[in-house]
Amino acid sequence: MSDVVFRLISEEEKRQREGLELIPSENYVSAEVLKAMGSVLTNKYCEGYPSFEGIPGWGEDEISREVLPNYRYYGGQINVDRIERLAISRACRLFEADHANVQPHSGANANEAVYYAWLSPGDKVLAMDLGHGGHLTHGSPVTRSAHIYDFVGYGTNETGDIDYEEMRELALSNDVRLILVGYSAFMKVPDFARVAKIRDEAEAKWGHEILLMADMAHVAGLIAAGVHPNPLKFGFNVMTTTTHKTLRGPRGGLILTMGRVGSPLKKTPERSLKDLPVLVDKAVFPGTQGGPLEHVIAAKAVAFGEALRPEFKDYAKKIVENASSLAEELKKRGFKLVGDGTENHLILIDMKKSFGITGKLYEKALDMVGLTLNANSLPGDKGGAFRPNGVRLGTPAVTTRGLGVKEMERLAGWMLEVAKICAETGEEGRLSEYSGQLEKIHDEVRELALNYPLPNEDI
Ligand SMILES: Cc1ncc(COP(=O)(O)O)c(C=O)c1O
Repeated sequence: MSDVVFRLISEEEKRQREGLELIPSENYVSAEVLKAMGSVLTNKYCEGYPSFEGIPGWGEDEISREVLPNYRYYGGQINVDRIERLAISRACRLFEADHANVQPHSGANANEAVYYAWLSPGDKVLAMDLGHGGHLTHGSPVTRSAHIYDFVGYGTNETGDIDYEEMRELALSNDVRLILVGYSAFMKVPDFARVAKIRDEAEAKWGHEILLMADMAHVAGLIAAGVHPNPLKFGFNVMTTTTHKTLRGPRGGLILTMGRVGSPLKKTPERSLKDLPVLVDKAVFPGTQGGPLEHVIAAKAVAFGEALRPEFKDYAKKIVENASSLAEELKKRGFKLVGDGTENHLILIDMKKSFGITGKLYEKALDMVGLTLNANSLPGDKGGAFRPNGVRLGTPAVTTRGLGVKEMERLAGWMLEVAKICAETGEEGRLSEYSGQLEKIHDEVRELALNYPLPNEDI
């Protein structure tokens, strides 16, 4: 293959192989997931949906065999329909949902579609403040949704947990239509039952239905494996997620809904929670997206199949074990963690308080030794998005490679050495003065990484 792109792909593969990935939203997919993504399904156009009424009771044999009618705008759908039905059925089984839409191209698209399905312009949404761990798509002023809907933000308290009292007060003083629990940097397990009670109180006060939405992009894999509670079991109506983080599938989005499954071709029903599955399907296509990416949907189906296996439960347990052990090892070495630890896969470190340095400097220095994480704002961070004082890291990817608690101790050791170098230099431009020390650490990281091959190295 002569195109320079393939040389760059191979360099990226080397980078991944020789380094250790600590970005909590990244993972390494299996060879099978990669294969499905790089398949001929990318040649196919399939606007619309396969029919799915009745399939929840079906087994995989039936779904993969039976040719049923569809709601598509093109011919030649005989295989993609069955693949998409398998993806829907597996997603419903994984998350105990009534219905799944597997077409969102990303997590941001999934959120956008839910807003579009349920809200009218100007409606109020209660969501976690970005500065406290929420995601850009939960109301950051730089997003399109923030121009259309009116987001009100709740925060976290000094223990790093959601401030449920503040959430309740805001829900009772603002006529909200949607309450959202979701985050990109939050280390506790949300009290979903408490949020559902707040929704009930707010519904009684405002006299209309309020959609309870969970954006579980980060912890979806933990939920699928049963090591984190499932919000759909606590009265949440909808759960959005990405498919590429702890869930270990291809880059993409997924929406799980509770309610009556129906034909997306019929007239749009009135806004009512019982019809959420149809409202969401219509909001994804044609509401906010065009044709689905069937090669990615096939890869999602493969990843969901992997997540349904017993081995995935062990994997998810190990992610949490590794994260809590890494958090303890870091604390022993003087790192100050937001919330003083973690209950999931994610750790947020206050680098200013720990070593008097910025998150960005530390991110750059760790890059030089083959450890990848990202600078991240802390609750109330004065550095803002461009000079944040924290870093965020997690264990889903290193756990996929097979690292265990023993290796977490080595990771913490290297992280301390690099933090000390950063504290001495104080600025990125002077890191090269320490290139000898950094190179030595890089050699050690590379040696460890090469002992734990990528799961997809052989294709
Ligand atoms: C909580 C949450 N929601 C949504 C998204 C957006 O996902 P994507 O980048 O696939 O659009 C992310 C990704 O970082 C996320 O963490």
